[in-house]
Amino acid sequence: MLIVDPAEVPVPRMHGYLLSAVAPRPIAFASTVDAAGNANLSPFSFFNAFGSRPVTLVFSPARRVRDNTVKNTLDNVREVPEVVINVVTYDMVQQANVASSEYPKGIDEFVKAGFSKLPSLRVRPWRVAESPVHMECKVVEIKSMGEQGGGANLVICEVLLMHIADRVLDAQGRIDPHKLDLVARMGQDFYCRASGAALFRVPKPTDQPALGLDGLPEAIRNSVVLSGNDLGLLANVERLPTAEDLQDVTVEPLLDELRRRFGNDAESFQYQCHLAAKRLLAESRVREAWKLLLSG
Ligand SMILES: Cc1cc2nc3c(=O)[nH]c(=O)nc-3n(C[C@H](O)[C@H](O)[C@H](O)COP(=O)(O)O)c2cc1C
Repeated sequence: MLIVDPAEVPVPRMHGYLLSAVAPRPIAFASTVDAAGNANLSPFSFFNAFGSRPVTLVFSPARRVRDNTVKNTLDNVREVPEVVINVVTYDMVQQANVASSEYPKGIDEFVKAGFSKLPSLRVRPWRVAESPVHMECKVVEIKSMGEQGGGANLVICEVLLMHIADRVLDAQGRIDPHKLDLVARMGQDFYCRASGAALFRVPKPTDQPALGLDGLPEAIRNSVVLSGNDLGLLANVERLPTAEDLQDVTVEPLLDELRRRFGNDAESFQYQCHLAAKRLLAESRVREAWKLLLSG
């Protein structure tokens, strides 16, 4: 493996490794104003959410590696400690990129990038009308991590009010990621689009600790067919399922067919059972896979 010691590598190269490895990153489209009330709008992918009580967001307008100057957004939140963080969707990404251009302080990127302003209810900066989610925030702290080019400035924000467009909600009032169609930032000039085939579900472990891979029967754990993801799906149960747990699950026709074709050779029978279980797991039919593996 390539070993990278930040103390030994030029900052731009380190920056490149970091941005490619810590990815995809959500994008905060940060709207701020300066003391004179001039609007500023810039995207920041050093960004995430850190808690919901109080609702806490952090983004970082870093010191420029090139010349160690600071971004207008940082100056603005020092002058007026308020920000609206808007999300960036696929439809907005090219315009948001224009807003990342290095315009001088006082230039309004809403105008430059062609976005419309909506007034906020609790803070002075405007919301981006084209974005489906806006978070009105007060800045509670700015933590600088260094005074050299590349140094982070953690802008710690408390969300005072969140606005969510009806068009991105599902029937239960939750945000539907397919409707939201967010983009995220990766290394170099790559982005990714968080909708369509890129989305998949992973069932959360229950409140009880999961069985774990070490709790799987040896023949399953050491299977030459089942992958790490397959074993992870199987291990995400509270305990090894019993026959009673699985009595409502039907795999007998499949099992009978496998017995008929491979039953006279124990090794190929087990191999085929594992293959069939793998296909079931690919369709998230975990209980059927368990029953097949335990019966087979
Ligand atoms: C998608 C995207 C994400 C970005 N993320 C960051 C970031 O996290 N931190 C940063 O300092 N600059 C980031 N930039 C660059 C800033 O947007 C750019 O420097 C911008 O001009 C700063 O504007 P300002 O000086 O008006 O604050 C990003 C650019 C893009 C396009």
